[in-house]
Amino acid sequence: MNSVNWLIRILLVFFLSHFSFAADTITLDHFIQDNNDGVMIVSAANIFALGFFSPAGSTNRYVGIWYYQIPVETPVWVANRDNPINDTSGILRIDAGGNLALFQGNQTLPVWSTNISIAGSGSTFAQILDSGNLVLIQENNGNAVLWQSFGYPTNTWLSYMKVGFNLRTGLNQAYTSWKSSDDPGVGNISFRMNPGVSPQLVLYKGSIPVWRSGTWTGKMWSSLPEMSRNFLINVSFVDTDDELSFSSDWKDSSLIARYVTNETGVTQRILWNNASQSWIISYSIPNDQCDFYGHCGPNGYCNPYLGDFECTCFPGFEPKSPQTWLIRDGSGGCVRKSGISMCGNGEGFVKFPHAKVPDTSGVPAFVDMSIGLKQCAEKCLSNCSCMAYASANSDTNGGVGCLTWHGDLLDTRAYTETGQDLYIRVDKNELARNTKKGLLQKKGVLAGVIVSSASVFLILVIFLRCWVQRQRRGVLTAERMKGKNIINFTTFEDSLGEKEFDKSTGNGDLPYFDLSTIAAATNNFSSDNKLGQGGFGPVYKSGQGVQEFKNEILLISKLQHRNLVGMLGCCIEGEEKMLIYEFLPNKSLDTIIFDESKRSLLDWKKRFEIICGIARGMMYLHQDSRLRVIHRDLKASNVLLDAIMNPKISDFGMARIFGGDQIEGNTKRVVGTYGYMSPEYAMQGHFSMKSDVYSFGILLLEIITGKKISSYFPDSNPSLNLVGHVWELWKEDKAMESVDSTLDDSYSSDEILKCIQIGLLCVQEHAAHRPAMSTVVSMLSNEVTLPSPEQPAFLQNESHKDDEISNSEGTKSLNVVSITTMQGR
Ligand SMILES: *[C@@H]1O[C@H](CO)[C@@H](O)[C@H](O)[C@H]1NC(C)=O
Ligand SMILES: *[C@@H]1O[C@H](CO)[C@@H](O)[C@H](O)[C@H]1NC(C)=O
Ligand SMILES: *[C@@H]1O[C@H](CO)[C@@H](O)[C@H](O)[C@H]1NC(C)=O
Ligand SMILES: *[C@@H]1O[C@H](CO)[C@@H](O)[C@H](O)[C@H]1NC(C)=O
Ligand SMILES: *[C@@H]1O[C@H](CO)[C@@H](O)[C@H](O)[C@H]1NC(C)=O
Ligand SMILES: *[C@@H]1O[C@H](CO)[C@@H](O)[C@H](O)[C@H]1NC(C)=O
Ligand SMILES: *[C@@H]1O[C@H](CO)[C@@H](O)[C@H](O)[C@H]1NC(C)=O
Ligand SMILES: *[C@@H]1O[C@H](CO)[C@@H](O)[C@H](O)[C@H]1NC(C)=O
Repeated sequence: MNSVNWLIRILLVFFLSHFSFAADTITLDHFIQDNNDGVMIVSAANIFALGFFSPAGSTNRYVGIWYYQIPVETPVWVANRDNPINDTSGILRIDAGGNLALFQGNQTLPVWSTNISIAGSGSTFAQILDSGNLVLIQENNGNAVLWQSFGYPTNTWLSYMKVGFNLRTGLNQAYTSWKSSDDPGVGNISFRMNPGVSPQLVLYKGSIPVWRSGTWTGKMWSSLPEMSRNFLINVSFVDTDDELSFSSDWKDSSLIARYVTNETGVTQRILWNNASQSWIISYSIPNDQCDFYGHCGPNGYCNPYLGDFECTCFPGFEPKSPQTWLIRDGSGGCVRKSGISMCGNGEGFVKFPHAKVPDTSGVPAFVDMSIGLKQCAEKCLSNCSCMAYASANSDTNGGVGCLTWHGDLLDTRAYTETGQDLYIRVDKNELARNTKKGLLQKKGVLAGVIVSSASVFLILVIFLRCWVQRQRRGVLTAERMKGKNIINFTTFEDSLGEKEFDKSTGNGDLPYFDLSTIAAATNNFSSDNKLGQGGFGPVYKSGQGVQEFKNEILLISKLQHRNLVGMLGCCIEGEEKMLIYEFLPNKSLDTIIFDESKRSLLDWKKRFEIICGIARGMMYLHQDSRLRVIHRDLKASNVLLDAIMNPKISDFGMARIFGGDQIEGNTKRVVGTYGYMSPEYAMQGHFSMKSDVYSFGILLLEIITGKKISSYFPDSNPSLNLVGHVWELWKEDKAMESVDSTLDDSYSSDEILKCIQIGLLCVQEHAAHRPAMSTVVSMLSNEVTLPSPEQPAFLQNESHKDDEISNSEGTKSLNVVSITTMQGR
C-alpha cells in the first residue's frame, strides 16, 4: 500500500513536470494570478515575458508583454488597455469557451478577452513566443493559431509585426499611442496604413495627418529610407487579395529594437544599448520640418536643403499669400499663376528627382499598373486635368505603373538620395526655360541668367571663393568674390537638377563649374565683385591630388544642414581650386554683435535662436553627419547670417580638406584663433570635438555679453579676460551684470542664466568635463538641471600676436571672413 502510494507520487511528479505545462503557456489548468507575486510566463529563449504590471506612476494593473531580460520596464503590448484593474485580484486564464480571458477577482464577466468564437473540440492554450507574439492555439486542430497579439498592436511595432490590413478578416493593424506615460489606454496618435490609390503609411493626430511615408517604391517607402536600409533590415510588402501589409525585421537578430508611436506625436525607432543599459532613440518621424504633412501647403514643394526658406512653389505657381510667404510661413501653399494656358498648348514636364511624390489619398489621383513611365507621360499630357505623374513602383527595373494627379499636389518634398522622380506639368514658357537650362548644363556651363519664375523670394546668389595655389612660393591664398552678374537658380534645381546631370556624366554629386563661367560671373574676378578677404585659418599646403580633393569636396558638399553654409559647387582647373558657396546677405555675426550701432538689432530672442542654431550645426558636424567633422576654428566671424538672421557656420570642411589625416589627434602647428582655442589645443596641439565645444562656449559668452574675447578688458579688473569676468560674476551670483546692456528688458533672466551656465560648462579646463554638442543642444532646449561649472581655463588676458586676430579685426569692413595667407610646409 505504502509502495503503491509512492509509485503514484513518483508518477505524479513525472507527469506534472513533463505533461502539465511549459513555463511559456497558459492552459486550462495553469493560469496566472496577479496576487501570486511576480508570476508570469516567459518565452522559450527568455526573450519576452507576459504578466501583470503597473505603468510607472500608476497603481492600476494591466496584463502586458515586456522584455524579460531588460531591467528597464518596457511594455510592448497591453491586453486590457482601456480596462485597468484597480487591485491585484486579476486572473488571466483560459475560460470555458476556450478564449484567453482576464478576470477581476471572482467576477464572471471578463475585463478583457480574446473574444473569438471557437469551433471544434480541441482544447486551447496560450503561448508567449520569442518574437513577443502571444498566440492562442487549438490542439487537435493542427495546432492552429486562432488569435495572436500581433494582430492587435498597441503602441509598439516589433520585428515581424505588420501594419496594414487583413482583407479576409477586415482587421486593421494600426499602432496607437498610449493616452499618457502612465495610462496605456488608446491615445490620439496613430500610425497606420492608408490604402488609397497607392498605399501609404501615415502618422495621425486624431484624424489629421502629421506625417506620410510617401508611396511604396518597390523596395521601400519613398520617405522612410531609415526603415528600409537593405543591409540592416529586410522588408516585406504584401499586396494580395487577402492582405495589404508591411513588416520588417532586423538582419542582425541580436539587435533589440522597436518602433514606438509616442503620445507626444512621433514614431520613434528605439534601440537597446547593452553597454549603457538604456534605450536610445535612433530615429524619429517626423524627422525634419519638411516631414510635417503639408508643411508648404498645396502645390508647394519643401526642400530642407535650401538655404533660406524651405518652401517653394512648383513652376507655374505662385504663393497664395505672398505676405505669409515672406515671413517664412509656407503653409498657405501656392496657386496657379493667372493667364497660363495649361491645355493643349505645348505643355511639358519638369522633372523633380528625389521627391516624395504628392499624397495619393483624398485627392483625385489615379494608378494604372499596365503602362510604363513613357506612356504615363503621354497619358498625363493628353488629359488637361492631369497635373503631375510619376512611376507607381519606381525601384522595380526602371519603374512600372503610372500614378497621375489631377488636383492640388499635397505634401511633396525633396530628398538628397532617396525619393523618386516626379514630373510636374508646366506650360510652354516654363518648359522652354527649363529646357534651356538643361541644355546649358549638358555643356557643363552654368547659365548666368537663369531666372527663377517659381519664386522670386528664393533667389540664391552665389558668391565665389577661390583658392589660388601659388606653387612657386608655396603659399595659399584665399579670396571671396561676388558675382556682379548675379547667378540665379530655379530653386528646385539648385541641389537636385545639377546632381542628376552629374550622375549621368559620372561626375559624382557636386556641380563643377568652368573657370570661364566663374570668371564671367565675377567680371573676371574684378575687385568690384570682391566680398572680402576669405580665410579658413592657416592651413597646410594640400598634399592631395586633384582626385582626392574632389572626393573630399564631394563628401563635404553632402554636409547639408540648415545651420551650415551651403556649398553649391566647385571648380578645379589646373592649379585653381575654388569652392562656390551660397551668398548670405547679413555677413557674419561679429559684424553685428561687436558693432555698437548694430548690436541692438539682435534682441535676446534672436540671440537665443542664433545660439541654438550654431549648437545644432555643430552637433550635426560632430555626430549627425557621416563625416564627423571637427571645425577647429569656430568663432563669431565664421558664423554667417542669412536674410532672417538664421546662423550658418562656414569654413567647416576646411580642416578636413587641407588637414588631411590631421582631423583628429595632435598637430604640431596650431590652427585656429587665440581666445577661442581650448587649453589642450593651444598648448599641446591636441584637438577633439571638445575643443570645438570650448570655442562654442566662448562664442556663446560673446553673444550674451556683446564683448569680444580678444579685446575685452573689464573695468573692474583689466587683467581678467571675458571668461574671467563672467566667471567672477557667476561665482558672486551676479552673472546678469555681464549681459549686453543693449538688450532691452524683454528677456527671461532664467534663460540667459542658463545660457551663461552652459557657456561656462563649455569652457571648463578639462575637456572631459565639457558637455558634448548634443548635450548642449538638449540643455538649450529642455528644462534640465545643469551641473555647476568648474573654474574655466584662461581667466587672464594674454598677449596676442597672432595673424588671425589682427586679420579678423582688420577686415571688419567687408564680409564675414578673416584671412588667409598660409605657409606651405
Ligand atoms: C475597483 O473596481 C471595481 C469594479 O470595477 C469597483 O466595484 C470598486 O469600487 C473599485 N475599487 C476602488 C477602490 O476603486
Ligand atoms: C467573490 O469573492 C468575495 C471575496 O473573496 C466573496 O465575498 C464573494 O462572495 C465572491 N463572490 C462570488 C460570486 O463568488
Ligand atoms: C466580445 O465581442 C462582443 C461582440 O463582438 C462584444 O459585444 C463584447 O463586448 C466583447 N467582449 C469583450 C470582453 O471584449
Ligand atoms: C485627443 O485630442 C483631443 C482633441 O484633439 C483632445 O481634446 C484630447 O485631450 C486628446 N486626448 C488625449 C488623451 O491626448
Ligand atoms: C531577413 O534576412 C535574414 C538574413 O539574411 C534571414 O535570415 C531572414 O530569414 C530574413 N527574414 C525574412 C522575413 O525574410
Ligand atoms: C514618449 O516620449 C517621451 C518624451 O520623449 C518619453 O519620455 C516617453 O518615455 C516616450 N514614451 C514611450 C512609450 O516611449
Ligand atoms: C551585455 O553587457 C554585459 C555586461 O555589461 C555582458 O556581460 C553581456 O554579454 C552583454 N550582452 C550582449 C548580448 O552583448
Ligand atoms: C482625365 O482624367 C480623369 C481622371 O482619370 C478622367 O475622369 C477624365 O475623364 C479625363 N479626361 C479626358 C478628357 O480624358
